[in-house]
Amino acid sequence: MRVALFPGDGIGPEVIAEARLVLEALDLPSLEFEEGLVGGAAYKAMGHPLPQATLDIAERADAILFGAVGDPDCDRLERHLRPEQAILGLRRHLSFFANLRPAKLFPELADASALRPEVARQIDMVIVRELNGDVYFGEKGMRKTASGLREGYDVMAYNEDEVRRIARIGFETARARAGKLCSVDKANVLETSQLWRDVVIETAADYPDIELSHMYVDNAAMQLVRNPGQFDVIVTGNLFGDILSDQASMCAGSIGMLPSASLDVNQKGLYEPIHGSAPDIAGQGKANPLATILSAAMMLRYSLNQPEAADRIEGAVAKALASGARSPDLGGTLSTRAMGEAVRAVL
Ligand code: IPM
Ligand code: MG
Repeated sequence: MRVALFPGDGIGPEVIAEARLVLEALDLPSLEFEEGLVGGAAYKAMGHPLPQATLDIAERADAILFGAVGDPDCDRLERHLRPEQAILGLRRHLSFFANLRPAKLFPELADASALRPEVARQIDMVIVRELNGDVYFGEKGMRKTASGLREGYDVMAYNEDEVRRIARIGFETARARAGKLCSVDKANVLETSQLWRDVVIETAADYPDIELSHMYVDNAAMQLVRNPGQFDVIVTGNLFGDILSDQASMCAGSIGMLPSASLDVNQKGLYEPIHGSAPDIAGQGKANPLATILSAAMMLRYSLNQPEAADRIEGAVAKALASGARSPDLGGTLSTRAMGEAVRAVL
């Protein structure tokens, strides 16, 4: 089992180090790591946020564990050289189109949620986010209007094949859970969303056992804080999924808790916490490594066919939380290392 480790920027190296130690503590035979540079770290060392050497490592790996990218030093670079291009490039080059972002409240963390505990306790959903299309990858640029004003533009587009394949992942995910799928769009305004909705409805014919609903994204944002317990699986596009998953994370306790999997058609995947590089706390040992540790568990389950090892990690995280381990984002004082230790102590 060859795992590529891409720590990246900011708190990325700190949280990846903890996840690696957790994986090593499992003592699995034939687990090998290969590290690569991504993001601002790669730009500074090699002049590009996603160097060919890193892509080569990604291609020969069975799975990728990714920290975070984003570095304020790089904010003024031309867009194709910015750190974020590393993650966007990996998703696109390796066709990781299906992003699974489970949001579930660990009962011990009900008080850390931005919502009232009795509301937060209901949260148990998976956001299925499309990752290879939408306004993220449409034509974009800067131009001048006829009257000489600067204008920025980004084209939003989805074709029906792109919608169909992510809709199927949404239906399949719902089938393995409570059987409810909510497709989130903005079909009252956007043509892209009208096609999205039409194709999701067509695809539903193959999934008569799934209860399908549709929701506009503004309403979905509101419902996520009003009554998050109503959601089982949400399927949505790249941009809406980006926004709603950050929101769901705070409802579920902390953005430091949510893992994610980005899969291709063969279950090869890239695994990363949904949080960013948090440059304001980088290097201070304040980051919560649990989102990355839980991402490693998802990697074992989805790409490496080690469901028992995945269960062990998830169980150890729950026990560590139950015994009171809390990083600053959860209202505690434990360092990044100490949080990792708390999980490894249980293992
Ligand atoms: C995420 C992040 C990325 C995204 C950034 C870093 C490009 O916010 O994974 O949610 O927008 O997809
Ligand atoms: Mg995001």
